[in-house]
Amino acid sequence: MHQTVQVELGDRSYDVEIGPDLLARAGDWIAPLLARPKVAVLTDESVADLHLETLRAGLKTTGIEMSALALPAGEATKSWPHFERAVEWLLTEKVERSDVVVALGGGVIGDLAGFAAAVLRRGVRFVQIPTSLLAQVDSSVGGKTGINAPQGKNLIGAFHQPSLVLADTSVLQTMSQRDFLSGYGEVVKYGLLGDADFFEWLEANGRSVSSGDMAARVRAVTRSVQMKADIVARDETEQGDRALLNLGHTFCHALEAATGYSDRLLHGEGVAIGCALAFELSSRLGLCSQEDPSRVRAHLRAMGMKTDLADIPGELPSAEVLVDLMGQDKKVVDGQLRFILARGIGQAFVTSDVPKDAVLSVLSDALAPV
Ligand SMILES: NC(=O)c1ccc[n+]([C@@H]2O[C@H](COP(=O)([O-])OP(=O)(O)OC[C@H]3O[C@@H](n4cnc5c(N)ncnc54)[C@H](O)[C@@H]3O)[C@@H](O)[C@H]2O)c1
Ligand SMILES: [Zn+2]
Repeated sequence: MHQTVQVELGDRSYDVEIGPDLLARAGDWIAPLLARPKVAVLTDESVADLHLETLRAGLKTTGIEMSALALPAGEATKSWPHFERAVEWLLTEKVERSDVVVALGGGVIGDLAGFAAAVLRRGVRFVQIPTSLLAQVDSSVGGKTGINAPQGKNLIGAFHQPSLVLADTSVLQTMSQRDFLSGYGEVVKYGLLGDADFFEWLEANGRSVSSGDMAARVRAVTRSVQMKADIVARDETEQGDRALLNLGHTFCHALEAATGYSDRLLHGEGVAIGCALAFELSSRLGLCSQEDPSRVRAHLRAMGMKTDLADIPGELPSAEVLVDLMGQDKKVVDGQLRFILARGIGQAFVTSDVPKDAVLSVLSDALAPV
């Protein structure tokens, strides 16, 4: 059931190992990277309680010692104070240029630990061990690392590719259903942006993926990682194609800002709703058929996911305010809203040529459905 995906980036290429029970054998993959048998692990308190001892034992089998720092779980950890604590801890642990830092956790830990590794002693190598579905299919691959600023999310960071990614699909069993389905929003995104057959497979097998069928999980993670790896290999620093990964995200970022980045809307939930809106917009602009947005929404519904704006608890601002919030997105280039639209399922493209009125009308109708 074990799969390997290579991220092809010349002398910075690396493997993503995907399959069950990888933590228990982590030493097999990590030992060849080490100059001495010792690693420093950054994690969060929730993940540490559930999985840190399995990792410790998995490293021990090949004689690797580990020390660990567990930061509080949650997005607020991706900030200067926790980042400072992490970097100073790594220095106290005497991590040297030839050592390896390990990130064990979701996207918050992966982003923070990767950035810490990027700046520690001007750059040390790091290994991603993503434990959330979102981190396995998205944040652990591609080398974007960083923290949030008071001015906005992910505004401070660096490109720093990991040396290895170990995506252990068994650890997903301890995720809450809500967090899991939120990560599934990114999985659906890959089908919608570039692989209609994968979307069709998800329509047939999504329930197996969410209910814990291991073979289905490995397949969903593997296909997602392959797609991300291909796009990153083509466009590492997002000069072009990498923007396709932002399908659904322009709407999502406005909704996240409107709900105060709170528990009302998790990131992947916003991505799912955003994908449905992006297809609705594409259909109204005559780019894709009218059936496509309905099909997207039907799948999200069947998975028990948030699908429409009405599924977000509490009040939302007007369509005008949401469009203004989109304008504050860091992906805006010279004030032009950049959208990912689609000519059909699996056929997304990047464009700056979207009339504001069309966006307004999609949002107004979504806010007040007839
Ligand atoms: N670098 C990138 O390319 C990239 C891409 C997408 C998202 N991100 C970032 O990723 C972050 C979101 O990632 P996330 O959703 O993983 O958030 P997260 O790291 O906060 O994890 C979500 C919650 O799940 C818990 N958790 C993680 N694994 C678990 C497990 N196996 N069992 C039980 N609980 C577990 C965590 O403790 C946390 O409470 C955001 O900060 C986002 O900006 C980065
Ligand atoms: Zn995302």
